[in-house]
Amino acid sequence: MTDQIINVQHLTKKYGTFTAVNDISFSVGEGEIFGFLGPNGAGKTTTIKMICTIAEPTCGEISVNGYSTRRDQNTVRATVGLIFQDPSLDNNLTVHENLYFHAKLYHVPAGEIKPRIDAALELVNLADRRKSIVRILSGGMKRRVEIARGILHTPTILFLDEPTIGLDPQTRKHIWEYILALKEKENMTMFLTTHYMEEAEYCDRIAVIDNGKIIALDTPANLKNMVRGDQVVIKTSDKDKTLKRLEEQTGFEPVIRGDNIHLTVPSGRDEIPKLFKLLGDDIVEFDVKKTSLDDVFLHLTGREIREDTASAHDRMKQRAKMRRKI
Ligand SMILES: Nc1ncnc2c1ncn2[C@@H]1O[C@H](COP(=O)(O)OP(=O)(O)O)[C@@H](O)[C@H]1O
Ligand SMILES: [Mg+2]
Repeated sequence: MTDQIINVQHLTKKYGTFTAVNDISFSVGEGEIFGFLGPNGAGKTTTIKMICTIAEPTCGEISVNGYSTRRDQNTVRATVGLIFQDPSLDNNLTVHENLYFHAKLYHVPAGEIKPRIDAALELVNLADRRKSIVRILSGGMKRRVEIARGILHTPTILFLDEPTIGLDPQTRKHIWEYILALKEKENMTMFLTTHYMEEAEYCDRIAVIDNGKIIALDTPANLKNMVRGDQVVIKTSDKDKTLKRLEEQTGFEPVIRGDNIHLTVPSGRDEIPKLFKLLGDDIVEFDVKKTSLDDVFLHLTGREIREDTASAHDRMKQRAKMRRKI
């Protein structure tokens, strides 16, 4: 077991009577890529903010690199780099100016500012965009500038809150290449949140979080082992009728996901003939899949992590931001 670099004990955050984070405990090992996976509103950002000393816990204890977030706030802040969920660059400044102000804010020694900015931009492959006004950059480039900014003060732990949210799949893949290269080069501990299942696969360990509680914490492989058997995905001409028939005539628990019906069976090979016999000509498509983290979440909660379930708070923030832009 590697040394613990983050230790969280019985952490709770309440907003009025609402409990956003509900008595969670976990630790992160040095050099680990640790992920929080959960739907919108689960409490991921709130937890990160408390670890980075931006929000105060209602109760519980957090130590970062051995320092308490309550007693040694400044040391903790110098230890962590944070890439916020919401875009946080100044659109009207150049890439270099954004980085420069951050370096000043974090008291990077004057003589080191230039080499650090150069190195950080090199790492995210934006050395040639130093003079560009941020406003004209693509979403993926802006995210890369934020990653460069997050590492300028050479933090020991990098927090990435939904690092690829809102980006197209190809850009997401590129951002991940930069994150993994960074990890390799600097041997940083990385703490990230996501509600994209396939991203969680990059993590060494994942805490699945829902309604402010950690409901499972393990390696991606071990989490997937929790769901035994094969995943059968069926598309039929009438999903409600199929659902009813499966519920009444098999011992399985079918669920509707989008246009398809999913069910977990002990052995796909044994069940395929029976399912074909039962559903016959209604079948439009039929597929047997390996277990994914999606299935794990469904298994744990009975619900899916949906990408469109922004929490009321997030929607409110989004609307306020839109209004400011008009
Ligand atoms: N400043 C705040 N005031 C009131 N409620 C908040 C505040 N920040 C977050 N919440 C609520 O706490 C819950 C957890 O939010 P958050 O940590 O942002 O979730 P996640 O990052 O997992 O999407 C949500 O229901 C959200 O609406
Ligand atoms: Mg969040």
